[in-house]
Amino acid sequence: MRNTMSTEINAPHFGDGIRHLPDRCSPRDLYCRLLDPEENVHYFEPAFQFAGAALESATVPALAAAAPLDYVDSLIQWAADELANPPALEAHSASWPPRIAREFAPVGLADGAWLHGLVRANVVENEVGMAAIKQLMIRFGDPGSGESYAQRYGALLRSLGVPPAGISRWELEDASPCAEISYEHALLGLVLGLFPGSFRSETIGFNLWMAVLGPCPLLARLADELRSQKANLQYLDMYEHEALRDSAIEAAVRLLAEDDGERARMARGFAAAHGSYGMWEEAMLGRNVPMIPREFVLEMIKRKAHFALGHHTRISFGGTRAEDLFRGGETGHAEMLDHLVESGLIYPGSPDDSPFLYHSISFEGPMFDVFTAAEQRELREWVVSLKSEPVARQEKPPVALRGEYGYPQDPKDLQGYAMARFGPLPIQEQLYYGSNADLYPAVRLFARTMLDAFLLKLGAAFKNDPRLAASPPPKWSERAIAELVVERHDKNIRSRPQAPPEKIPTPMNAPKPEQPSIAIAFDGVWLQGFADVHRSDREEYGWLFRIYASEQGDGIMDWNHNRIMRNAVSQAGPEAMLPATDRRLYEFCQVNPMNLMLVAASLNTRHSLPELLGCNLGIEATGVGGGYLDSWRGFVAKTDNHWAALSFRLHNSIDNYVTGHTKWSLSAIQAFMARVQESAPAAVETQWQRIWRVWRLQEILEHGTTDERQALKEALGFDAASLAPIPAALAAINATSEVATA
Ligand SMILES: [Fe+2]
Ligand SMILES: [Fe+2]
Repeated sequence: MRNTMSTEINAPHFGDGIRHLPDRCSPRDLYCRLLDPEENVHYFEPAFQFAGAALESATVPALAAAAPLDYVDSLIQWAADELANPPALEAHSASWPPRIAREFAPVGLADGAWLHGLVRANVVENEVGMAAIKQLMIRFGDPGSGESYAQRYGALLRSLGVPPAGISRWELEDASPCAEISYEHALLGLVLGLFPGSFRSETIGFNLWMAVLGPCPLLARLADELRSQKANLQYLDMYEHEALRDSAIEAAVRLLAEDDGERARMARGFAAAHGSYGMWEEAMLGRNVPMIPREFVLEMIKRKAHFALGHHTRISFGGTRAEDLFRGGETGHAEMLDHLVESGLIYPGSPDDSPFLYHSISFEGPMFDVFTAAEQRELREWVVSLKSEPVARQEKPPVALRGEYGYPQDPKDLQGYAMARFGPLPIQEQLYYGSNADLYPAVRLFARTMLDAFLLKLGAAFKNDPRLAASPPPKWSERAIAELVVERHDKNIRSRPQAPPEKIPTPMNAPKPEQPSIAIAFDGVWLQGFADVHRSDREEYGWLFRIYASEQGDGIMDWNHNRIMRNAVSQAGPEAMLPATDRRLYEFCQVNPMNLMLVAASLNTRHSLPELLGCNLGIEATGVGGGYLDSWRGFVAKTDNHWAALSFRLHNSIDNYVTGHTKWSLSAIQAFMARVQESAPAAVETQWQRIWRVWRLQEILEHGTTDERQALKEALGFDAASLAPIPAALAAINATSEVATA
């Protein structure tokens, strides 16, 4: 039974009149591209089409209407019933369970990717978003609590002799590590994570299936067999089923509490996850991958056939040249195997007596080390199996791909469109589009161009302007940056007024009192791109996602920094509480170019990683032990704005230098630079300067001299406002309140 969408999908705008590349994408191609979304914006359109079609064709059960929680329960029950009696696992090769683990890798290595969208800064600030971030925190782990689920999956693969990165590395078609249907199975989750503005409800449904019934019942059934083969099964053993289940149900119920009309769409996401898994499982039972020893050996021949040519010119079997059999596709390969059995090289049932095994592939033979250890085991298993009753080969044809695979956009055309479309707009609109890039993917390209131009100007100023070049960066070392941070703390303390000031010091460029800064809604926005499970094994991603989650309140709405700042300026008008998806918020608030730069960087996390590292350290180090203390006490003493007081108190402690955001930011830089030092020592100073410049930018905005600020203004062409959102966001109330420090 197919339901129709309860409401029209809010489809992204991919641009007008943009040409397409000549070739359709394949499942593997699309999957690998989307692991690096910022370099592949031209794949977003086919990605969206894929998800739209997958959701459209999902078989949704007709369930009696009930209260939200009952409805969610009955949805779960429906799927659980369907999974209750899985097909018996027929005779299979010992290589089959590890093969299933490898085939599930595209999903396992991107575990949690479907939650990326729900935690984006424009959509996270509500109870559904909080439930989503709680779950992503579990799946993501962090350097202070434990590894991510994706890393655990990587450990499983490694324990089976499969390098995790190989799953998405370029390969010849015949050598692909997974069947196409396995990439197809992983695609929906990956794509949903890109389009929260279009598929929010569907994602909640998809997540519900993954958390409650997933991630992979077949893998769970094979766990004991895998364990006996010394597989590392932490991925399954440490899966926090209960916490994820509770949070996933909470997200679903909260969604329906927001709007009960979303049932059909949520159910569609749930059913699509269920259906995709069912198809994949069917494919894994010998239809799209080998299951019995003979099939594994045939696949081995297929994989090697191309490079076997030229090595067997003098060999023939039953009158047919081996070279022709290699070229003969499936039939030729099967014939070769039959001839091999009759050739005397193989003794059915006894690998140790088979010359092929004790001689041909030995050190004495012509094929030494042509077969991996796993392949040798498969060969032996096949030889043993020849003695027993032949196992019937899978009769059913391979499960066909069901996905819709369109054409990528022409990247040059898309770039041209992005510049023409977003370049001429006023800054408020540019920020609106940038913050809602899930609905306007091309804005990512515009944002990168603009950010690069900004950074170029900044770099030139630090190099050429004597007012800035006077204090150059120290040579990189872990100690040098740690000392810069210590020095910054001292500057914060010294910056406190000796005598109580008349008013709390107002940051430069304080917005007009009636108009709060847009920063009230964007604390942490620069870090949103670190919610990237595929890169969760990099320490800096771990720390920076951890900080991002913390800015969002660790999944608790009352702790959400943006909510606190919005409340602090709520006297300015109800618009201060509008979600970041609402255009009116951008008209109501003050927007400065720095707000835009932070969002632009967040859309290009990998591209601007060094700058983001420096910028983040600069922001986290701001105000702690200095301006934040005075502002906090000032608000307590002289106003009843306890939200503003809370914001400063909270940031003075949470951003602390010993165990808080500043320390995590410092560790992130040290971890990143250690990797640069390790893999490209010649690049160390360039990378460090990229980090330092943006750190220094924020330091000047907080503690710089008039000369330094003037130099920046001349170089950039505008008066830069603090990157740190707290002082900027609350400047409006500083200016309006009769506040003085006690
Ligand atoms: Fe914050
Ligand atoms: Fe912070």
